[in-house]
Amino acid sequence: MPQAAIVGSGLIGRAWALVFARSGWTVTMTDPSAEVRAGLENSLTQDCSVLERHGLAGSVGDVVARITVAAKLEEAVAGAAFVQENGPEDCGIKRRIFTELDRFAPPEAILASSTSAIVGSRFTEDLPGRARCVVGHPVNPPHLVPLVEICAAPWTSETTIERTREVYSQIGQIPVMVKREVDGFVLNRLQGALLAEAFRLVRDGVVSPEDLDKTVKHGLGLRWSFMGPFETIELNAPGGIADYCARYNGFYQRLMEDPPGADAFAMDAVEKVLRSWPYEADVERIAALTDWRNERLAALQAHKSSCELGATKA
Ligand SMILES: NC(=O)c1ccc[n+]([C@@H]2O[C@H](COP(=O)([O-])OP(=O)(O)OC[C@H]3O[C@@H](n4cnc5c(N)ncnc54)[C@H](O)[C@@H]3O)[C@@H](O)[C@H]2O)c1
Repeated sequence: MPQAAIVGSGLIGRAWALVFARSGWTVTMTDPSAEVRAGLENSLTQDCSVLERHGLAGSVGDVVARITVAAKLEEAVAGAAFVQENGPEDCGIKRRIFTELDRFAPPEAILASSTSAIVGSRFTEDLPGRARCVVGHPVNPPHLVPLVEICAAPWTSETTIERTREVYSQIGQIPVMVKREVDGFVLNRLQGALLAEAFRLVRDGVVSPEDLDKTVKHGLGLRWSFMGPFETIELNAPGGIADYCARYNGFYQRLMEDPPGADAFAMDAVEKVLRSWPYEADVERIAALTDWRNERLAALQAHKSSCELGATKA
């Protein structure tokens, strides 16, 4: 079985390790923090048991046995066919990590970054092996949410792009192509547009944060868990997308004449949300809610797999 290297083993790195290992890859993880490395076996076992319980992975013992931890980056990437980088979201740090990856990984290995918002050309330009570098931006947590955005730098080779797409598909993720480098790729641009309107509506007293969340989780989001916005509007008018646009585009055009601006994310809007948010920021509560979210996501993924929605609609 091929070998994957996971470089940076925080929230995202740990989840990627499970994605590769449950598909039979051997995985070597590394992280500069000894504390993070020491906690990996426990957290991988705990996260994998959720997958096993919902039929989304084989036995915890088998999956976790395929994962080893190395103290040094050069040990972790030796022999890797695919490297997934998950270090801090900082361009300088990514540049330093990629310099080392290009130096120590086998020449044919793909070097993919999980970066959320830094386009690859900002940290790979000067590397001799820049043609094998690519962004593979996952959604948190990738062992439970399969989408991954592939975005090439201008110098990424076609072979790298194709191979990256094949690898992600083979390990059960759903790759989409971002055809040119844009800030935030696609997913975070969509999330940003929704959040900007959400903060504005709460700031302007139109709706409470609780009711805004209900509007998404009991409204838009129910369909969005198995249909995209274009698939949604196709069914919202008898004549499909063209009919929908003929009926409603005038309204959307009026709306877009007054779009939320950068001030939607300013402190007054944030404070307005926090004032009516009933909970304090509390580490234990957030950890418990994260466990609850992962259980619900696993159940939803199991349901989607059983309906083969992934196969028919992906
Ligand atoms: N958290 C999310 O929702 C999310 C979603 C998609 C993508 N991402 C991206 O994934 C990457 C990792 O994010 P995260 O949420 O796992 O952060 P995290 O803070 O949980 O993990 C980062 C890890 O990198 C390690 N690290 C620090 N310096 C390093 C170095 N020089 N080399 C290797 N590792 C180093 C840290 O010790 C830490 O364990 C970021 O680029 C982030 O933008 C995050």
